[in-house]
Amino acid sequence: MKVIITENYEEMSAKAAELIIGIVKSNPNAVLGLATGSSPIGTYQNMAKDCRENGTSYKGVTSVNLDEYVGLTADHDQSYAYFMRTNLFDHIDIDLKNTNLPSGSASDLQAECDRYNALLAGYQQDVQVLGLGSNGHIGFNEPGTPFDSVTHLVDLTENTIKDNSRLFASIDEVPRQALSMGIKNIMNAKSILVVVSGKNKAKAVKGMVKGEITPDLPASVLQLHPFVTVICDKDAASEL
Ligand code: F6R
Repeated sequence: MKVIITENYEEMSAKAAELIIGIVKSNPNAVLGLATGSSPIGTYQNMAKDCRENGTSYKGVTSVNLDEYVGLTADHDQSYAYFMRTNLFDHIDIDLKNTNLPSGSASDLQAECDRYNALLAGYQQDVQVLGLGSNGHIGFNEPGTPFDSVTHLVDLTENTIKDNSRLFASIDEVPRQALSMGIKNIMNAKSILVVVSGKNKAKAVKGMVKGEITPDLPASVLQLHPFVTVICDKDAASEL
């Protein structure tokens, strides 16, 4: 696992974008595994700026996202589909037809998980971008999720609901469930990029980088992947 420690969020975002842009430039048909949340927003802003100013093209790129809340339609402003459009897809030249997320508003959630797993079987991520939960989750694979899991329905932990409530009007509006790629789908990526910032992630970063490899801290599984880059700011790295 390669760990790059940056001064702050801005430097973390610039370096992460540089890595993704390099992959897209060397392979215009790259498959990008993408994440939502606060961690990659700056990365996506840098990618958008580079697309605008330097013309890096995403016309041939396919994207697969990690997860989506159950019960929110793609036009709900807290859905991850909406997040991806407003934070990235609307600002680069990717074809929306080539962007993929699980649908949290599907009437048959198990059938939706099966559809997404079949789709992922055809698109190995050249890079999978990850944020890190303060409890060590990756995607919405909460502590205890088996390492061989594939896309599944998740009951979010109270910890995650609380962490994510900052984006909703009240904690009661935070969805209690999500569909998430499993750990096996994440580990199938050719390379993995984790972006992490902030003191509240320091303990999880330590567990991810040098703790015991255990489902109790899902991100510790990344120690078993041959090509992982962690880009974290110095607050997130403070317990390493
Ligand atoms: C988002 C996701 C989550 C977040 C994690 C960190 O698609 O899968 O694992 O990456 O909860 O969230 P932030 O970046 O908001 O701290």
